[in-house]
Amino acid sequence: MQPPMRILITGANGQLGRALQAALSDHHVIPVAHDTLDVGADYSVDAIVALFPELVIHAAAMTNVDACERNPDEAYRVNALGAKHIAQACAELNAPLVYVGTDYIFDGLKGEPYLETDAANPISVYGRTKLEGENFARALVPKHYIVRTSWVYARGRNNFVTKILALAAERPRLNVVNTEFSSPTYAPDLAQAIVALVSHPQYGTYHLSNEGVTSRFDYARAILDEAGQANYPLDHP
Ligand SMILES: NC(=O)c1ccc[n+]([C@@H]2O[C@H](COP(=O)([O-])OP(=O)(O)OC[C@H]3O[C@@H](n4cnc5c(N)ncnc54)[C@H](OP(=O)(O)O)[C@@H]3O)[C@@H](O)[C@H]2O)c1
Repeated sequence: MQPPMRILITGANGQLGRALQAALSDHHVIPVAHDTLDVGADYSVDAIVALFPELVIHAAAMTNVDACERNPDEAYRVNALGAKHIAQACAELNAPLVYVGTDYIFDGLKGEPYLETDAANPISVYGRTKLEGENFARALVPKHYIVRTSWVYARGRNNFVTKILALAAERPRLNVVNTEFSSPTYAPDLAQAIVALVSHPQYGTYHLSNEGVTSRFDYARAILDEAGQANYPLDHP
């Protein structure tokens, strides 16, 4: 049994941030939400240091992939510089850092699940800025965990599940791509896996997702079936 630690969580009100707060109830959690700290601002380094965390879990990010594409400067500021600031604070404190990364750093051409050792080749602004964030974490904090995950969802939050259900309520039929594949991951499961990881420190890069692989199309079909809409018409391009 580990003694309680002071664990700071950025993006504390996001899907993963909330799940982490619940999973870390044995520790002294310092939840830091967007409205109290903008990780992209320079002052965030000193603000984090002043809170004296013993471990930082950086779950804050600009996660809207389309918004990142429309505003690459802001995506870089939040996802890359934000990670840099958090990493600088950890380096100053000699505190380990969990950086939460994404499968969007890969180009998707491999045709099978990616391994930690596969080369990154992002094809979107979101993927590129999240990879830059990873690289800052790796370069600045020797005690880092890079935790890459995929298609995160949680109850009552904004995600693919809620998006499909909302669109199906508005439109007579939907078109969903069947060429994108990944592993939907339940935020509370991911939070438990991160807690297990930091309980037995082995720093490095990890892929943590729920089991199984699906396409966006099959995922949408399963969501609608589970919601009692098995007859809702779904097409793919
Ligand atoms: N969601 C996914 O499918 C997915 C997949 C792979 C990896 N990830 C990664 O997993 C981590 C957690 O994602 P999530 O699903 O929990 O996303 P989320 O629900 O969108 O949470 C992200 C949080 O970051 C906050 N944030 C945004 N800009 C910020 C800023 N400048 N300063 C401080 N906080 C800011 C957001 O606050 P506001 O909402 O107030 O802006 C939100 O609370 C992220 O690093 C993400 O890149 C997510």
